[in-house]
Amino acid sequence: MEALFIFGVILKRVLSGIQPSGSLHLGNYFGMMSRMINYQEKNDLFCFIVNYHALTTIKEKELLKENTLQAAIDFFSLGLDPEKSTFWIQSDVPQVCESTWLLSNVINVGLLDRATSYKDKLSKGISANVGLYSYPILMASDILLFGGEIVPVGKDQKQHMEMTRDIAERFNQTYGKVFIVPEPDIDKKTHLIPGLDGQKMSKSYNNTIPIFGPEKALRKRFMSIVTDSADIDEPKSVESPIFHLYSLFLSEKDQLELKERFIKPGLRYGDLKNELYECFWEYFKPYREKRDYLMNHKDYVIKCLEGGANKASSVADEYLSSARSAMGLNYKG
Ligand code: TRP
Repeated sequence: MEALFIFGVILKRVLSGIQPSGSLHLGNYFGMMSRMINYQEKNDLFCFIVNYHALTTIKEKELLKENTLQAAIDFFSLGLDPEKSTFWIQSDVPQVCESTWLLSNVINVGLLDRATSYKDKLSKGISANVGLYSYPILMASDILLFGGEIVPVGKDQKQHMEMTRDIAERFNQTYGKVFIVPEPDIDKKTHLIPGLDGQKMSKSYNNTIPIFGPEKALRKRFMSIVTDSADIDEPKSVESPIFHLYSLFLSEKDQLELKERFIKPGLRYGDLKNELYECFWEYFKPYREKRDYLMNHKDYVIKCLEGGANKASSVADEYLSSARSAMGLNYKG
């Protein structure tokens, strides 16, 4: 398979899929997106919006369409460079569905029955369609069909990654080596990103701080971060979500300085929230401007996505053709 060389070094293919789940928040950005975007500098980054996967939960067509394009615009706004990486919408490379079928023949139902994310959804009363059940095979297909070597994911995806490795190994054992067995790169930091109430920032806890949105509403979110009742003449807690959120924007040296300011009496939480808000607003300023531009130039966004899909498609075709031959589907000889 074709490999990307830069200055004689073979770049590792880093690959990940992202759910089109609506407005992005700070937890998404610092937990995953900024990490992905940094990968594009020194690796061969493959990244896509998983709208096939989203079908398992989103049933309104307009919502899915809007969230898909929005997710792409957000990625481009936050620095994903279509020249440096391969970025596409999952359903623009439908070969991934064919390989899902091929791969489903090397995985036993017992393994899927044990998938915790599927079991969790069942226990929440979400009725399980077959799509939800076979979600992990589609995910394995996403990774194997594009030769992903390193897969940055959150902790919740650990089991899906084990299944992917298992599927690749079984396929290779049964039919001869076709697929790369990928390594997960599990993020250890995400759980440290607190939401407004101090729990992990997550849509399901309704405690998020969106990255983009009207200034007034965003400021209000920051003002509602929970604090203890320490007075101006008392030290402020470095366990406060204000401290953790502020630290995300700072260098190590500046974090230490912030810590000293927190420990020394004389500060008010209200002032710190304002300061944090200003820092946030400045940090995302260039991204906001880029996003305003892209929102008004959707044709350009779609062109970038088509370019990405073409690049991804040619990689998929190679792997798919090897898998088809290995399995005996090329009956013409
Ligand atoms: N299941 C992943 C999640 O919910 C999304 C995903 C789909 C993915 N396909 C992938 C992640 C391939 C990494 C690689 O976050």
